[in-house]
Amino acid sequence: MIIVTAASGQLGRLVITELLKRVPAEQIVAAVRDPGKVADLADQGVLVRHADYNDPASLDKAFEGATKVLLISSNDLGNRVPQHRNVIDAAARARVGLLAYTSLLHADTSTLSLAAEHCATEDAVRAAGVPYTLLRNGWYVENYTAALGGAIAHGALAGGAGEGRIAAAARADYAEAAAVVLASTGAVEQVYELAGDEAFTLAELAAEVSRQTGKDIPFHNLPQQDYLAMLLQIGLPAPLAELIADSDAQAARGALFDDSKVLGKLIGRPTISLAAAVKAAL
Ligand SMILES: NC(=O)c1ccc[n+]([C@@H]2O[C@H](COP(=O)([O-])OP(=O)(O)OC[C@H]3O[C@@H](n4cnc5c(N)ncnc54)[C@H](OP(=O)(O)O)[C@@H]3O)[C@@H](O)[C@H]2O)c1
Repeated sequence: MIIVTAASGQLGRLVITELLKRVPAEQIVAAVRDPGKVADLADQGVLVRHADYNDPASLDKAFEGATKVLLISSNDLGNRVPQHRNVIDAAARARVGLLAYTSLLHADTSTLSLAAEHCATEDAVRAAGVPYTLLRNGWYVENYTAALGGAIAHGALAGGAGEGRIAAAARADYAEAAAVVLASTGAVEQVYELAGDEAFTLAELAAEVSRQTGKDIPFHNLPQQDYLAMLLQIGLPAPLAELIADSDAQAARGALFDDSKVLGKLIGRPTISLAAAVKAAL
């Protein structure tokens, strides 16, 4: 049984889609806190089990018969370490053959404020006493493309990453990498640094949007505090706004760059291009 946690999320759903191409549906478990959200997966033959990161008993039940578990990091910022520990402990009790965790690109050296929770989780994964793989995912390109509507409406793309090159990749690419690792019958690496083949600056992103829309959408780089103020002003919750402003500021210093092309090698094809990601979003 291959268990995918947070299978109701955007990444989890894509992982299940990719797994269904590689293993029979009855070997896949979508472990979710609200089974009603994934009725469509049950219709495809995927087993759906209740699993809440805050409820160890639910995790033990969900992991019955598990050979491999993919722990997709929670979106509950600030509460993730105890939640992830619950999952890791349950996977260890189930004596799984592989525990994979969706971490952060270069988590051990990253200057992103996000890295702390990922590092603590990685430590717990290493200490669990089961074979493991760290899928250190870089930035989702959707973090930027999902906000293009606002940029087009305002005639400018604002951000704080300056000249920093960002090796973002589509969720679908990271999901396929996770599925490849989970479906593998051979040995897998302990650490994968996963990022897009094609790094870009936000000015290059703005130029691509301009090209595809036929409108002039320049990039406006903002100091971290100004970008934070803008994100708060458009209504983002403070913790999320702070995280985004911090991430862009660190990206300006290269924290989201990687040129190892490990992701493309793992999935056996080039990662989805910036042009294709922008086109899909538009
Ligand atoms: N690399 C990046 O650029 C980037 C960007 C954003 C997020 N992330 C991280 O990557 C993860 C996956 O991304 P995504 O796009 O799929 O996020 P998402 O769509 O927000 O999905 C988050 C998932 O976490 C689940 N979850 C939250 N709390 C839980 C709990 N207590 N017990 C069980 N499940 C819980 C949610 O369940 P419900 O459906 O029940 O709410 C949902 O399935 C995120 O959670 C976050 O840690 C990475």
